[in-house]
Amino acid sequence: MKPLVTLLIRNAEQVVTARTGGRPARYSWRAAEILPGGSVACAGDRIVAVGTQEEVLRNLELSPHALVIDAVGCAVTPGLVDCHAHPVWAGSRVDEFEERIRGVSYEEISRRGGGIQATVAAVRRASEEELVTAALRRLDIFLSCGTTTLEAKSGYGLSTEHELRLLRVIQRLRHMHPVELVPTFLGAHTVPEEYRGRREQYVELLVNEMIPAVASGALAEFCDVFCEAGFFSPAESERILLAGKDHGLRPKIHAEQLSRSGGSPVAAAVGAVSADHLDWCEEEDLHALAQAGVVPVNLPGATCFLGKERYAPARRMIEMDMPVAIATDFNPGTAPIFSLPLVGSFSCLRQGLTPAEALSAMTLGGAWALARQDEIGTLEEGKRADLVVWPTKDYREIFYYLGSIRPRWVVKNGRIVYQSADESSLGHRGITGKDRT
Ligand code: NIG
Ligand code: FE
Repeated sequence: MKPLVTLLIRNAEQVVTARTGGRPARYSWRAAEILPGGSVACAGDRIVAVGTQEEVLRNLELSPHALVIDAVGCAVTPGLVDCHAHPVWAGSRVDEFEERIRGVSYEEISRRGGGIQATVAAVRRASEEELVTAALRRLDIFLSCGTTTLEAKSGYGLSTEHELRLLRVIQRLRHMHPVELVPTFLGAHTVPEEYRGRREQYVELLVNEMIPAVASGALAEFCDVFCEAGFFSPAESERILLAGKDHGLRPKIHAEQLSRSGGSPVAAAVGAVSADHLDWCEEEDLHALAQAGVVPVNLPGATCFLGKERYAPARRMIEMDMPVAIATDFNPGTAPIFSLPLVGSFSCLRQGLTPAEALSAMTLGGAWALARQDEIGTLEEGKRADLVVWPTKDYREIFYYLGSIRPRWVVKNGRIVYQSADESSLGHRGITGKDRT
């Protein structure tokens, strides 16, 4: 039987599908598919058709309770996928922001016990309810920027008790908010204060106690390590990621962020799903990643916020036909940035990506970096009905206006989960239908 359409988005100026025409891993980099006058039909939580309204409705029928969004003058894109983020924490690091402006480096602040350690102390002091409340507020902002899927790393607990608590908070949030969270265990974010001078013991704790506990509670999908001078060495990173893999946690790695730390060869050796940051990677590193099928994740917001000049070679990644991703790296120290559109502008301006490439990298690319490329990241039949309606006729303005274009509507799993307050000024006819939820 034909599915009944429960949500129809019609009359859009542009529908940017980001689909690849069946090619599994690659993008139609240079030519984003744009359907003018397009429509998207959803049945329940799935997309059932994309095309002109006539095409879309030719073989389908509208449910009598269907919601119809009239997207006149708007562009429709897939829901944004933010594949690298640290959204659960407590406290404030705004003093460090000012210190850095005055010339103290991130590395120096970290050596003095600030940085990640400062957030760890605040997280350990905070109640579970405080962590949940703060994170929920942040998720509202992510959603208002168009993010429908968000990675959530632990990494600010750094003891078995506190890492498990953070991951439990993430599990609770998954039932409380429409932004879909993907949990990653990052116990190897830094060596905590109390293990200073005996780091091997912390690595033992990670491998023998934390990873097994995380896996047995099914609390995370991925295991990540901050591989960097002063944090975890390549050998330690490899050991931790392999232990995670043994327990069913798929590897990810923070690599070549502040220096050429040696994380890329580790990513290739352990078969990581993604290698993230890569500001200092060299050609040889990219080849290793490409050959091993590791998704390179660009985090230019962190590069900018740290006041650094060297950005990851995203153009080169595209030339090599890698499935490039862009993410916010949202965190209190190096990237207090919610907006993927703003980060996309940085990619365009500092890394030379075109708007089409930036959009693909934060939809399908993000989906690849979370191993969800068959489920989300494009507008095509069979995928989840996650999409954003933007109040612009030309999707390139999402990047041109540097984070100022906010979604008009956001749809997650076929439901309208966000609607901007400003209905009048854009000249849309808005939503019709019985149930407006
Ligand atoms: O991704 N690189 C490691 N972790 C974060 C920084 C976290 C912090 O400073 O709190 C990052 O940039
Ligand atoms: Fe990070």
